[in-house]
Amino acid sequence: MSELVPSILSANFNKLGEQVRCLEDNGIQVLHLDVMDGAFVPSISFGMPVIASLRQESGLLFDVHLMVQEPVRYIKEFVESGADSLTIHAEACQDVKLTLEEMKKYAVQIGVSIKPDTPVLAIEEYLEELDMVLVMSVEPGFGGQKLISHTLNKIQELARIRQEKGYSFKIQIDGGVTKENIGQIAELGADWIVAGTAVFKGDIEENVKKLKEVISAT
Ligand code: DX5
Ligand code: ZN
Repeated sequence: MSELVPSILSANFNKLGEQVRCLEDNGIQVLHLDVMDGAFVPSISFGMPVIASLRQESGLLFDVHLMVQEPVRYIKEFVESGADSLTIHAEACQDVKLTLEEMKKYAVQIGVSIKPDTPVLAIEEYLEELDMVLVMSVEPGFGGQKLISHTLNKIQELARIRQEKGYSFKIQIDGGVTKENIGQIAELGADWIVAGTAVFKGDIEENVKKLKEVISAT
């Protein structure tokens, strides 16, 4: 069954610890942390100090999404700040292979993400060694956007390749997930479904319950 993975990008940063505890109390196991550098994407979010402070407070699995140009420069620091899973963007690396080699030095899960217009083919050669493929269903950079529906075709494409080749990566979807479309995404076979606005806007507990309920009904 698909796992609901809240992105703290839409959290109230003034109450971050409290809101993350609320997620834990409502059965969430994985937290998505969006790092934006103002270069690979237009916006800037947060970096290692925020992740390290949150690490003191939470035992959740930290899934760090690096929207950062040449992330190879920072892998060690993000591992040390408490990441359990690190995802880089294929489009952000001059040398994806080299970046993956750097990630493999550490005890972290390794993911590669592709933007909406990047085909699965662009990362096919790396799939065997990955723990996760993150399919962006919006242009990375901001929360609260509308899901681009053609990106969902990549879920089935990836699932087919995984089956045919006997690979083991998880398939993650990120961007524009709502109570209305999460059922379809779960049915298509996404393993991890990231949701920011849909979790944090309004009542967190109610939102989590509803989103999980829709997933369970699939
Ligand atoms: C966008 C981020 C997403 C974002 C999702 O660049 O990678 O994780 O927080 O936010 P929503 O769910 O609001 O689209
Ligand atoms: Zn993200």
